[in-house]
Amino acid sequence: MSTEIFSPQGQELIAQFFPYEASMAMARSQKARRDHPAELVAQAMTQAKLRTRAVQRLGPIAEKLMFTAEGLEQATRPDVAALRARHFADHGATRIADIGCGLGFDSIAFAQAGLQVIAIEADPITAEYAKINAQVLELDHLITIMVMDAHEFVPADFDCDAVFVDPARRSAGKRIKDPSKWSPSWSTALALAQATPMGCLKVAPGIDHELPPAGSTTQWVSHSSDLVEACVWLGTAATAAIARQATILPAGITLSSANLQPVAARAISTYLLEPDDAVIRSGLVGIVADQTHAGLIDPAIAYLTTDQRPPASALYAAFEVLEAMPFSLKGLRQRVRELGIGQLEIKKRGSAVDPEKLRTDLKLEKSNKAAGVIVLTRIGLDPIAIIAKRLA
Ligand SMILES: C[S@@+](CC[C@H](N)C(=O)[O-])C[C@H]1O[C@@H](n2cnc3c(N)ncnc32)[C@H](O)[C@@H]1O
Repeated sequence: MSTEIFSPQGQELIAQFFPYEASMAMARSQKARRDHPAELVAQAMTQAKLRTRAVQRLGPIAEKLMFTAEGLEQATRPDVAALRARHFADHGATRIADIGCGLGFDSIAFAQAGLQVIAIEADPITAEYAKINAQVLELDHLITIMVMDAHEFVPADFDCDAVFVDPARRSAGKRIKDPSKWSPSWSTALALAQATPMGCLKVAPGIDHELPPAGSTTQWVSHSSDLVEACVWLGTAATAAIARQATILPAGITLSSANLQPVAARAISTYLLEPDDAVIRSGLVGIVADQTHAGLIDPAIAYLTTDQRPPASALYAAFEVLEAMPFSLKGLRQRVRELGIGQLEIKKRGSAVDPEKLRTDLKLEKSNKAAGVIVLTRIGLDPIAIIAKRLA
């Protein structure tokens, strides 16, 4: 791999294309090719494109950093990495192994939290990018990056008191659902994370609740209403007697399974609540139900209903129910018109209806100004539609 793109000249060239604008790219590249080799110009354009995408996804920290397409796709969001790093630091970690470090977003957060980091990466090119990123952020005195396979790594050889593993869970652009096929696999990652007093494994949010070992704490994290990850805390980093947690960022709210109440189903009433996905995946909907005096609309569907106006909260989206009816295109079209709805949000859970097709079939009147929400769902086996208004 040519490393010229990492040089000051390469960085200057990237800056000429950043932020990347397709309409300007051709003219800029012709100009740049007068002074630089075509290959370097092409690399600078690629970096500018990735960096522009990275800033949207990861925030301003990405403005200085170097990316591979795959590394960007797998990078932990800085706020989430910082949350994890603080947890390790608060639990007394001082020297952590980051196994499968990728471009280094978790390593960076660990270093920023004051930890020494031994970062392991099997792919030499990705490791090179991670090294540059640590240098750019002037964290290279805290982060040591090694090209090594996880199977050869022994945490005790590096005096690590903590291990974090973020296995690759994609192959050829596709999600790998089976944890035994992650790289490193669930069992290898678990053994590594259990080799030190505290550990953490980043896992898919859809993880089977039965997979993490007894005594661990699995934490689902959402950011700006996107469910971004789950991680399994082990050893002294786990929280005693708490198997599951949901953390909502940036609000910084954490719910724990220790407070979980059973929740019953009830008839749809004045308000409808859609809990955050981290709350749903962690199985902690009962806590939100308890806090809002709500019940489930159906035992298998994660929408809640209550007759008490719910306060604004990052834990859920709240709606005022205008009408709940058996699903029928004709009936919906009529009521949407009567209610003057012109701007429509469609949500669904447990429904086979295609929302975009429904939107077209509803033939909304453009002159109607009211905003409304249609929730497609079911009670038992019966498909229903709820017309609602989003509460501020
Ligand atoms: C999900 S990415 C890590 C992303 C990283 N946490 C970040 O935020 O930038 C997983 C990384 O593990 C690496 N990897 C996969 N198998 C590995 C193995 N057996 N040993 C070491 N690294 C491995 C991949 O090359 C990939 O870069």
